[in-house]
Amino acid sequence: GDGVYEVVLILNGKLIDLDGHIRRLERSLNEIEIQLSFNLKIFEPIINRLMKMNFLKNGIVYIQVTRGVASRDHKYPKSVNASIVMTIKHINISQKLQKNGQKAITVEDQRWKRRDIKTIQLLPNCIAKEKANKEGAYEAIMIMGDGTVSEGSSSNVWLVKKNQLITREANFNILNGITRKAILKIAKVKNLNIEERKFDIKEMLDSDEVFITSATSIVTGITEIDGKKINNGKIGSISKKLRDYYFS
Ligand code: PDD
Repeated sequence: GDGVYEVVLILNGKLIDLDGHIRRLERSLNEIEIQLSFNLKIFEPIINRLMKMNFLKNGIVYIQVTRGVASRDHKYPKSVNASIVMTIKHINISQKLQKNGQKAITVEDQRWKRRDIKTIQLLPNCIAKEKANKEGAYEAIMIMGDGTVSEGSSSNVWLVKKNQLITREANFNILNGITRKAILKIAKVKNLNIEERKFDIKEMLDSDEVFITSATSIVTGITEIDGKKINNGKIGSISKKLRDYYFS
């Protein structure tokens, strides 16, 4: 688990929000004191080359940086070079766009207290996602000890209530999604009211619309949570609009 990662969306041959992902990678690396001896700007030409070599126009790039090769110890080893792995994968984005609303379940958030770091230490997220998968759901929405929603196992969660957008404020409790930031920016331009604050399960289940955002889910409407239909089981109009704006 001693490493961090990023997932960047590739749309029509373009890297979406690469700068934001690289800045977050830099931040995650700083938080766990992994130093790279080069400027992270070098990632862009390497990713472009990977895309060319694989004839890839739509999909994702995965970037992983781990501390490096050293004998086993809890303390950080001195003078090791970090290990970097990058892979790219094709995804049919147009298929994603046609997607209907998705089901979600709620699960206990079993993670540590620094969820703002995009660590590869993802076992609680994997356990949550697998539970969702076994129950025929797309995402597991994680609930903290105080009953509030933190985020999805690999996404940020949003509510729409009376035309107001609500998403949890970004601090140590959630990963500050790059897609989350993009949607906040779009919502501001479109003059939507935004509240960045906590919300609990009840408020989520009673809201007009629920959607999740991430580099891979983009904007995905959640139309059923724990068996309860949201917006009569249909993707809401604001979720749909935000998704369309994101692509335009
Ligand atoms: N996950 N919260 C968590 C816990 C995540 O793992 C992710 C993304 C997000 C959304 O972040 P972004 O909008 O920057 O993708 C929020 C990626 C997609 C993954 O692990 O595959």
